[in-house]
Amino acid sequence: TDPETIKLGDGKDVKGTRVRIFGRVHRERRQKENMFITLRDGYGFMQVILTGQLAKTYDALTLTRESSMEILGELRAVPEGAHAPNGRELHADYYKIVGKAAGGDDAITNRVSKDTDHATLLDLRHLTLRGETASKVMIVRDAVEFAFNSVYKELRMRKVSPPALVQTQVEGGATLFGLPYYNETAYLTQSSQLYLETCLPSMGDVFCIEKSFRAEKSLTRRHLAEYAHVEAELDFITFDDLLEHLEHVMCRVLEVTLSDPTTKQYILDLHPEFKMPERPFLRMRYSEAIDWLVEHNIDIEEEGEAPRPHKFGDDIAEAAERKMTDIINRPIFLTHFPAEIKAFYMPKDKDDPRVTESVDCLMPGVGEIVGGSMRMWDYDELMAAFDREKIDPAAYYWYTDQRKYGTSPHGGYGLGLERFLAWLCKQHTVRDCCLYPRYFGRCKP
Ligand code: 4AD
Ligand code: MG
Repeated sequence: TDPETIKLGDGKDVKGTRVRIFGRVHRERRQKENMFITLRDGYGFMQVILTGQLAKTYDALTLTRESSMEILGELRAVPEGAHAPNGRELHADYYKIVGKAAGGDDAITNRVSKDTDHATLLDLRHLTLRGETASKVMIVRDAVEFAFNSVYKELRMRKVSPPALVQTQVEGGATLFGLPYYNETAYLTQSSQLYLETCLPSMGDVFCIEKSFRAEKSLTRRHLAEYAHVEAELDFITFDDLLEHLEHVMCRVLEVTLSDPTTKQYILDLHPEFKMPERPFLRMRYSEAIDWLVEHNIDIEEEGEAPRPHKFGDDIAEAAERKMTDIINRPIFLTHFPAEIKAFYMPKDKDDPRVTESVDCLMPGVGEIVGGSMRMWDYDELMAAFDREKIDPAAYYWYTDQRKYGTSPHGGYGLGLERFLAWLCKQHTVRDCCLYPRYFGRCKP
């Protein structure tokens, strides 16, 4: 009878059975008369042993890493003292090279070595994706995205899919990508927030996981031109409700993600000292953060100017923010930013009109991973904000109408998926948390 085809991580305890497997050669080595191959298929790894004549064929003698193979054989426990994935190996009785990979100078392992510079590695992203680190990050990404979907469903939130081609800005004109659109100009969306807000009256609380685009002319380790944006919008809430919800979602997403043993193992491989964040997250007002920065002598460094202490009204730049998060070393909800440094739609705090009902969530190693706020829900107040920011409200008629037809206190947030992953998987840059990163100067492969 035809043996069953299994994935390499399947039936971890199965032994003594004949199976068929497919995969690519991750490693190979010879030992005396035998040949050991570690095969990889995206679901796991399996050690295969070729013995006798099978180890001496032309194919075996010229086997190259990354070649794809079909192998049949019996699963057996590895001898005592020997190590192999899941403590087993496949004793092959038949194999076939499906696609032979280039060897010598063209071998992937030669093209993608530890010494290869970062730009070349990114040009070769289609090959580096096969590496253990890159593939683990991508597999964790899949699990996290899935977890967001399921946690939002637990909360009875509805998923929607707003357009990517828009005519309105959300987070400032400086980072808009414009493009010709028939006979007019369109932009790539910076955020789906405004569209999510329009869904509340008929769909209840909503979320989306879409791409957002920012024409960032910076090469920092946390800025992309195209990123995955997890956004949610909640109706009839207070600012405190928003913070509570955000903390719940982030922790629950981690719980769901870690509940899968393989995913958990990958996260620990990538980030050995990972610990679930403690609840409640530290809450810190912007004004307290400014005091903290002053006390810790973390200065503001602007181009062409001497470093100086932070003062109320200053933007907290990436470097200062990261220093602060690294020292405090736990998630922080940084709240109540001054209106001048935040987006037009954020309402003022009733007790302190200098500041807004806004929140950034900061994580060690990365800094800001979430930006959120309550939304101005009074029509006149919103129109005044457009005026102040010198934005023509005409293009926003569908957004401002929202305030005319049954307005409500509401709020939401956007979480950068790559930044969340950079923190969770302890990656130096968000570039390593996307399949094919797009950022200033790079639009390939
Ligand atoms: O803080 P931002 O700009 O907020 C918004 O876009 C809101 N309209 C979201 C909302 O309330 N629905 O962006 C939100 C998050 C940031 O905290 C960051 O994690 C991520 O999006 N982000 C980026 N990630 C990678 N590259 C960039 N250039 C990013 N810009 C923002
Ligand atoms: Mg922000």
